[in-house]
Amino acid sequence: MKVAVVGATGLVGSEMLTVLAARNFPVTELIPVASERSKGKEIEFKGKQYKVVTPDEAIALKPDVALFSAGGGTSLEYAPKFAAVGTTVIDNSSAWRMDPSKQLVVPEVNGHVLSAADKIIANPNCSTIQMVVVLKPLHEQYTIKRVVVSTYQSVTGTGVKAVKQLTDERAGIEGEKAYPYQIDLNVIPQIDVFQENGYTKEEMKMIKETNKIMGDDSIRVTATTVRIPVIGGHSESVNIEFTNDFDIDDVRALLVKQPGVVVVDDPAHLKYPMPKDAHGKDEVFVGRIRRDESQPKTLNLWVVADNLRKGAATNAVQIAETLLEKGLL
Ligand code: A2P
Repeated sequence: MKVAVVGATGLVGSEMLTVLAARNFPVTELIPVASERSKGKEIEFKGKQYKVVTPDEAIALKPDVALFSAGGGTSLEYAPKFAAVGTTVIDNSSAWRMDPSKQLVVPEVNGHVLSAADKIIANPNCSTIQMVVVLKPLHEQYTIKRVVVSTYQSVTGTGVKAVKQLTDERAGIEGEKAYPYQIDLNVIPQIDVFQENGYTKEEMKMIKETNKIMGDDSIRVTATTVRIPVIGGHSESVNIEFTNDFDIDDVRALLVKQPGVVVVDDPAHLKYPMPKDAHGKDEVFVGRIRRDESQPKTLNLWVVADNLRKGAATNAVQIAETLLEKGLL
């Protein structure tokens, strides 16, 4: 496979390279792509050096697949141009996610929707991915009525500039700001821009994308998304109300069986998922599994994943793996 990674010099792009190598994706030729600024820069992949090219140069090389993580503008402009030369694009930006003609895919949840017609495939929002992987087996068994989610999101989700803001603040250095406020020793209840309804764009993504990926608009979702001074992963408190009642041991068994999910839930030994432990891992970790005692048929969970891995790079590579398995690449 001739594989282009568009945004190869960025946080998610470099994670994509790591994941492609770690999962032994059959890359015969790697094409690292970034902006004109990075042209010629050397990128290492599996012990070999590759020179960064521009999107136009990459299109001329007609890659089989292109993993995009270079912002929505770049995706809107270039994904159709790559698709036009026969490249299958897997796009990590939000540009195509809610387009009814594009599939929004988390392989463990709705990999079956992929077909030969899909030339631009959208990779969902990081917070949404880790939640739906956990919701899927529970919805199949008990039918979800409503989800109330609050997130605790890592600065890595904002990109290189945000990680630098946190480390600069910690070192007492006055630097460039990715956030409107100090993030170290603080919590910012705003991710992305505010919408007219008072929710942020991130919160609305979690609502709409969950319905689209689960293929069920009857699931009601409400979200509060929050940035915290953490590197390593996103955490979520998820409250789920079902139509049918559940047995808590059955819930645990369903989650243990779910591909891509690791249950870490042993309060007696203080075991629960934390971003420090999820960092660099491909799985979604779930713990604090307990009944919501304030309401019947309702469950509380704590869900953690590395947002650069399952929340972005890993999921994108898994989409490519699914296409390969189905003979679509
Ligand atoms: P560059 O390093 O040349 O700016 P992050 O979100 O971590 O900051 O990464 C963004 C990624 O998207 C980088 O690899 C960046 O490349 C790339 N990028 C930004 N704008 C463009 C563009 N117009 N064409 C191609 N790649 C782009």
